[in-house]
Amino acid sequence: MTQIRASITGIQGYVPDYILTNAELETMVATNDEWIVSRTGIKERRILKGEGLGSSHMGAEAVKGLLAKTNTSPEEIDLLICATTTPDFIFPCTANLICDMVGIRNIGSFDIQAACSGFVYALTLGSQFIETGKYKKIVVVGTDKMSAIVDYTDRKTCILFGDGAGAVLLEPDAEGYGIIDSIIRSDGVGYPYLHQKAGGSRYPPTHETVENRWHHVYQDGAQVFKFAVTNMADVSAEIMERNNLASEDVAWLVPHQANRRIIEATANRMGVSMDKVMMNIQKYGNTTAATIPLCLWDYEAQLKKGDNLILSAFGGGFTWGSVYLKWAIGA
Ligand code: UT7
Repeated sequence: MTQIRASITGIQGYVPDYILTNAELETMVATNDEWIVSRTGIKERRILKGEGLGSSHMGAEAVKGLLAKTNTSPEEIDLLICATTTPDFIFPCTANLICDMVGIRNIGSFDIQAACSGFVYALTLGSQFIETGKYKKIVVVGTDKMSAIVDYTDRKTCILFGDGAGAVLLEPDAEGYGIIDSIIRSDGVGYPYLHQKAGGSRYPPTHETVENRWHHVYQDGAQVFKFAVTNMADVSAEIMERNNLASEDVAWLVPHQANRRIIEATANRMGVSMDKVMMNIQKYGNTTAATIPLCLWDYEAQLKKGDNLILSAFGGGFTWGSVYLKWAIGA
């Protein structure tokens, strides 16, 4: 029997127009372009401006573009999954809002919260519904308005993050393309090192939570860096090994864009040279759930049908994971 796999048949990104440069950050906190570029690789990031616009706005823009590009009508979509750490509201979920904004009605839609690994988690989950034959067209979105929770008085974190969104269409494939394997992992040991403390049920908003800046991202960067380097490299090597992939079999590594040094360490561990690594951290920074689809969108013209891609991510939780897929778009 032919194995049905979920393949990506369309990719679309969206980034807001406003560019926050390192030079502008220099006017806000005690930092400098040289430090930011040498420690992270980031030169600029996009910021969503405008009253009342949240992650759903960017996600909906990406989905609208995706439907137009793939010639798909909203009525054809069977399921929409949104990965986000910056939902518009605690409830309803951002996936519900995106569906409404793009005219997708009466289907299941829900959010996944796995911080920077959200897209890898959502893709893994979506692929199951295709493989079982339950659904034929699934949209997976990664969208984050990190500027909503970044503390622009904290130089250790404010230089890292940006806003953006990306969306893919998943459809069944019986010709050997699509998602072949995936690994998702988590370890709650990560909570103290990377979190947004208040706003949920443990610490609902009070004057004190606001004064303590608990509604912003807190990160112990050095600790997170250590875990990220090890786990992202290990999980990428593990998915290669268990699928008998040598480094020359990998056409592209598509890593989460948190820090250029973490990306280089992962590529090094896999034996993959940097010319096979997708990187756009310099222009978007860390857009959390959007980094991987934004990379695929940026590099789409260079991808060939049948290319072996390894997607890898690490983030708050801690969460991490990897996806091995064969690119299905092209001649
Ligand atoms: O995507 C989710 C997962 N997140 C990550 O993977 C992020 C992982 N962590 C990192 O990428 C890095 O730890 C950072 C980029 C956040 C920080 O780089 P680092 O090399 O670990 O720097 P550090 O935090 O150890 O700080 C080194 C120095 C400190 O000064 P002292 O104490 O040595 O005098 C900091 O105060 O750099 C200082 N510093 C800065 N200086 C200029 C920290 N931030 C800045 C800044 N500009 N923006």
